[in-house]
Amino acid sequence: MDQLEVLIKELYTCVREDSFARLTLSKPSDKTAEVKKVIIRMTIIKDKRHFSFVYRHSTKDITKNYGVSEGSDLIVQLIQSDFEIANLFTTEKHIVVERLPGKNFKLKVQKQKTEVEATRSHDKQKKTLLSKTDYLVHLGVLNKKGNIQKDKGDKFKQINKYVEIIDGILRNNPSLAKLDPMQIVDMGSGKGYLTFALYDYLKNKLGQNVIMRGIELRPNLIDICNGIAQDVGFEQLFFEEGSIEQSDIGEVDVLIALHACDTATDDAIAKGIAANAKLIICSPCCHKQVRKDLIEDNSELSSVYQFGILKERQAEIITDTIRALILKKAGYKTNVFEFISTEHTGKNLMITAIKHDGKVDVEKIEAEIVRLKKQFGVGRHYLEEVVF
Ligand SMILES: C[S@@+](CC[C@H](N)C(=O)[O-])C[C@H]1O[C@@H](n2cnc3c(N)ncnc32)[C@H](O)[C@@H]1O
Repeated sequence: MDQLEVLIKELYTCVREDSFARLTLSKPSDKTAEVKKVIIRMTIIKDKRHFSFVYRHSTKDITKNYGVSEGSDLIVQLIQSDFEIANLFTTEKHIVVERLPGKNFKLKVQKQKTEVEATRSHDKQKKTLLSKTDYLVHLGVLNKKGNIQKDKGDKFKQINKYVEIIDGILRNNPSLAKLDPMQIVDMGSGKGYLTFALYDYLKNKLGQNVIMRGIELRPNLIDICNGIAQDVGFEQLFFEEGSIEQSDIGEVDVLIALHACDTATDDAIAKGIAANAKLIICSPCCHKQVRKDLIEDNSELSSVYQFGILKERQAEIITDTIRALILKKAGYKTNVFEFISTEHTGKNLMITAIKHDGKVDVEKIEAEIVRLKKQFGVGRHYLEEVVF
């Protein structure tokens, strides 16, 4: 068997065993050829494997997809006549074939020294903003091969969605993106999934100068997160032990509080307003305080409040409405929306608030809050007590 046949056999084997990672064809035989290189990967289209050929020209790339059999034939043809060097990467081997003068081929086979993934992009798969980098492996979202762990699909979607939302806000508010450095604090950072993801996205994908701090009650999580930040070289990401209500956050441009329990969300909002943060983002968690302090008999909604679950839901809506109104009163353009489908998490409400310098009708908003509290029998709202 000649050297080219060895390569072809390896190609068919790795296609059959689904261990094909990629193939590059370089050094065109015709030096004036428009296509300088071809990069071939495997992709899934309508549930079937296809080869995806990227034809690299000097100023553009053209992508074409072929069925496995047609693509394999085309690869062989291109190696035989159009390109002098082929590099085939499988999950186990790296094979280089070089065409020599005459019709001879030189072949070198190396064992892969590091793990190579046979990635299959999927036509139905939505593009994600997250690069699948080491921190996701350390956090247990991805396995060592870079695939999403079985029970972490929802987490991965949630992290992506969250980064997507912040990306959208930054695009629509260029003054935020110009902050240098952008100082971010994440209140109740927990295991740090979202903290790491946002830092990675801003710093490594957008090239933003970011200083980011996570504040968290549980010291073991602080140690773990600081360890991971060091391991993955996130030099301006720090985790500090502390309580949201007592932390001194200093100067902050962006304040985040995702799923901080009950009134911890209010404390976080109050800190953000006091620090004059340009952007406040929170996703409330459990809502206990307003529910506990509903004056049921006085309320127009006493018929609703006799049913526990309806009372709970109503209290949640009022709690977050008043939070949004207080943010508006403090000069923030405020938005409330569901940030991910309920199928992925029940805690899916997000409040975003962007500081503006327009006029605010404080009295009107205060009257709105008073009216709302009366109508719904809200005895007290914790945020009113800690804000300003
Ligand atoms: C449900 S977890 C959310 C973690 C993270 N923000 C996320 O969305 O993945 C809430 C975290 O907030 C922390 N936490 C709750 N109350 C806090 C407080 N008052 N001060 C600081 N951290 C608090 C908890 O220890 C927990 O780790």
